[in-house]
Amino acid sequence: MNQIAITRTAVPKQPPADETLAFGKVFSDHMFLMNYEAGTGWHNPRIEPYAPFVLDPATCVLHYGQAIFDGMKAFRGNDGQIRLFRLGDHARRLNKSAGYLCIPELDPAMVEASIRALVEVDQRWVPSLPGTSLYIRPTVIATETFLGVHPSHSYVYYVIVGPVGAYYKEGMNPVSILASDTYVRAVQGGLGAAKTAGNYAASLFGAEEAAKAGYTQVLWLDGVEHKYLDEVGTMNIMLKIGDEVITPPLNGAILAGITRDSALTLLRDWGLRVSERPIAIDDVVAAARAGTLEMWGTGTAAVISPVGELGYKGERYIINGRQTGALTQKLYDTIVGIQYGTAPDPHGWARPLGNRLGG
Ligand code: COI
Repeated sequence: MNQIAITRTAVPKQPPADETLAFGKVFSDHMFLMNYEAGTGWHNPRIEPYAPFVLDPATCVLHYGQAIFDGMKAFRGNDGQIRLFRLGDHARRLNKSAGYLCIPELDPAMVEASIRALVEVDQRWVPSLPGTSLYIRPTVIATETFLGVHPSHSYVYYVIVGPVGAYYKEGMNPVSILASDTYVRAVQGGLGAAKTAGNYAASLFGAEEAAKAGYTQVLWLDGVEHKYLDEVGTMNIMLKIGDEVITPPLNGAILAGITRDSALTLLRDWGLRVSERPIAIDDVVAAARAGTLEMWGTGTAAVISPVGELGYKGERYIINGRQTGALTQKLYDTIVGIQYGTAPDPHGWARPLGNRLGG
């Protein structure tokens, strides 16, 4: 990759107090940018002061949604060290999402370099209060101006970062989710496995209906039979019934969550019986009724989020007495410990900012 040109802001802002942080509302002083033109390829990598874009109203991303992104975090430990969690895996996933949307390949090494460089420039924006982090949003948008439907010939790759607290207003307290038998997020053969804008647009109407009924999120079921669990849109879903931990398989309709993979790896390290297999909503309801269900979500923004209530077909089921389950808490403590550098990191997931190895 070409050298990254850095232009620093002349008017640095004051980061908010860590205690006031919500999710995704404040952004740092700088952004990373790089352009793509057919024939030239990716070029002009640079860090500039954070600023709005000017886009022609006919810019194709505004009409046809050719856009991808990823989400990852940097953490400041008690030792003052900034650690990036599974940077290489996030860079590879962004490139995979690009493939689904006919966006030209992004070299994962370049994505890693762009994120390291931006976090280094804006490192004073990495908060230190437990539960806070710097959220990193690498994004690609199609920028050609035309109204025909075909892949764009030009793109902008950019990265923005901002300090965040918990994603849900509940924090680490159990959330309530509504399994929808009406709306669907994605179907196999579609874009469900890509981190693309349209998947989130597809979730909005169902999520609003769920919110009106008092739920935090929608548990999406498969798009064909409305029978098997897919994911929650803001997180993957996992549950424990008896001695088996179960999560839906990577069937092409759900995101290959990196926190999902971290949780599965730890659970297997701990010797638990872990199955990636289809799970019917009827079996989940039966386990909730029998009081044998523990359920949680996994995601970069959501971390490990306990599920305390499940709605389905007009009934509400309380899970684990609306308390965080023991396994959910252990997963949360272990992953957060690795992220902040207070727990052993046997898989080398949390890399200090200066350390250029692995991912
Ligand atoms: C993430 O967890 O990073 C996501 O992109 C999910 C989004 C709902 C914030």
